[in-house]
Amino acid sequence: MTEHISISKKSAQQFSQKVLNWFHQQGRKHLPWQKNKTPYRVWVSEIMLQQTQVATVIPYYERFMTSFPTIADLAEADEDNVLHHWTGLGYYARARNLHKTAKIVAEQYQGEFPQTLEQVVALPGIGRSTAGAILSLALNKHYPILDGNVKRVLARCYTVTGHNGQASYEKKLWPITEVLTPKQDVASFNQAMMDLGAMVCTRTKPSCTSCPLTESCLANASDQQHLFPQKKPKKKIPEKQTIMLIPRVADRVLMEKRPPSGIWGGLWCFYEITDEVEITKKLKQLGLQAIEQKKLEGFRHTFSHFHLDISPIVIDCEHLPASEIQQNTNQQWYDLQQQASVGLAASTEKLIKQLIYNPR
Ligand code: ADE
Repeated sequence: MTEHISISKKSAQQFSQKVLNWFHQQGRKHLPWQKNKTPYRVWVSEIMLQQTQVATVIPYYERFMTSFPTIADLAEADEDNVLHHWTGLGYYARARNLHKTAKIVAEQYQGEFPQTLEQVVALPGIGRSTAGAILSLALNKHYPILDGNVKRVLARCYTVTGHNGQASYEKKLWPITEVLTPKQDVASFNQAMMDLGAMVCTRTKPSCTSCPLTESCLANASDQQHLFPQKKPKKKIPEKQTIMLIPRVADRVLMEKRPPSGIWGGLWCFYEITDEVEITKKLKQLGLQAIEQKKLEGFRHTFSHFHLDISPIVIDCEHLPASEIQQNTNQQWYDLQQQASVGLAASTEKLIKQLIYNPR
């Protein structure tokens, strides 16, 4: 296993040439964000593509770009509307940061996406690899990238030990990607490395016979592709429980908008309680009188750092609350018959589907 890798200029040139030749023949050149390339369009795509597959991203990307064709449109948009365009994609901090960054670019950069790595990495939600991807793919600037796919390709080619999320692993890989990234045709090279990782050097069952790097790949030489990257040690994540209360009047259900930070920051969710004994108190607080209550099927939602077991209870009520109990702006009676125009947490969406099949 190699811990300190030295790559000669010549071997780096051979590497990038093989990758570029492969790209011109096999790489992806017609993805939506590869048309009318601008830093804005590439930035949005790179953020959506973090933790999400290309096929899932495409329709979200098209809708997002139709609604927010420029940074100014995004900067001026309502947060609810931005989050609505993210419903189902998960990791909502990405959408909140996108919105925040658009406002910064509008205010501090007159709506022009900044063009140096230092300025770009200083923006919310953009790390070194994403910054490099934006500036290289959109403007052909000479910056290396190191996303999950690229890490896997390089770890196998140079048998670099470690696993994703380990600082020492990234520390070994950055100098490699820096040396290999060519001065010419950086946009094609970086796109090619991502494509190779996604299409050829896949996590399981890589297609080494169709890989342009097979001959020089150290993992392939020792038939150890499956050992790189190393498996992340499985951490047991905690299990939490919650009860979601769903007050309903005819086809409308009561939701609240969660405060800006936390797992559901800015998203619309049902009220939560920790014990059924709190139901009466909560309904009183909300000015509601129950006529019937019924449990819906529970389910588990897993976040990156915990499992959440959700037990939903529908509370049917005859009337909306009396007018003296004013609704605040963080509360709404959501109409199950209408399309949402706000961001819904994945669990809220799932419950809405269940409710449609469980009318009163
Ligand atoms: N994953 C991250 N960035 C990507 C891109 N530009 N094309 C395809 N997959 C990607």
